[in-house]
Amino acid sequence: MTAQIIDGKALAEELRQGFKARVEALTAKGHKPGLVVILVGADPASEVYVRNKVNGCLAIGMHSEKITYDATVDQVTVLNKIAELNADPNIHGILVQLPLPKHFDEEAVLEAIAADKDVDGFHAENVGALAQGNPRFIPCTPYGVMKMFEKGNVDLTGKEAVVIGRSNIVGKPMALLLINAGATVTVCNSRTKDLKFHTSRADILVAAVGKPKFVTGDMVKPGAVVIDVGINRLPDGKLCGDVDFASCLEVAGQITPVPGGVGPMTITMLLANTIEAAERKAALAD
Ligand code: GUN
Repeated sequence: MTAQIIDGKALAEELRQGFKARVEALTAKGHKPGLVVILVGADPASEVYVRNKVNGCLAIGMHSEKITYDATVDQVTVLNKIAELNADPNIHGILVQLPLPKHFDEEAVLEAIAADKDVDGFHAENVGALAQGNPRFIPCTPYGVMKMFEKGNVDLTGKEAVVIGRSNIVGKPMALLLINAGATVTVCNSRTKDLKFHTSRADILVAAVGKPKFVTGDMVKPGAVVIDVGINRLPDGKLCGDVDFASCLEVAGQITPVPGGVGPMTITMLLANTIEAAERKAALAD
């Protein structure tokens, strides 16, 4: 069997086209959605992500700006900027690109962002709402994966779902979303004993472990839906996921490629969250 490929690039484009009318309607009412992305330091991968986030906003008529700081900036300067943006009525979403330099207290920075502008969904208030099953802002990558399940008509109720990875950005919120959708969820990590025991039972397998080609075809249950969240750069400069695409393609029922899978969906859901934030604000103002 050869798996059906879930095309994240096409789905992302379809959704972004649909956002344009919402952005226009908000702009007409004086609530043009605005996102600020804060980047500390000059990590090349982060610079690319941030540029794509800003350009993604501009392409659908939103306002977006990038604020960059040298890696040596002190935390208070960044916290003061966040306080200023929290109070700015033209800004609906604030995102601090992670990771931050070592001298930063990441949690303190994320908590400083007003919960109703936290379009990353990383503030404790938003994490708590998601855990309670009443999400306000859903972290963009797992939110994008849920949209891919929706598009592929993947019914999650009662399914065995295995998530490899336990990060706050992907693994944990992904597990919560799957739990909320009625799946039976196991969260593994790179040190899980007998990982194959778990993965080979999975109807839904999400790899977010940050190790190139970590999941191989022999670990996958025939017909499973395999979601590859990884973006790894190989020594030859090529991108590859956490899933060994060639071997898993022959076993899985549906699979996401890298590039062109989950990646384009992450920024799409950031746009969705920012528009949502602007719509909530507009509703309060009406
Ligand atoms: N670094 C890697 N992924 C993300 C993300 O989704 N949001 C932020 N803020 N930083 C990241």
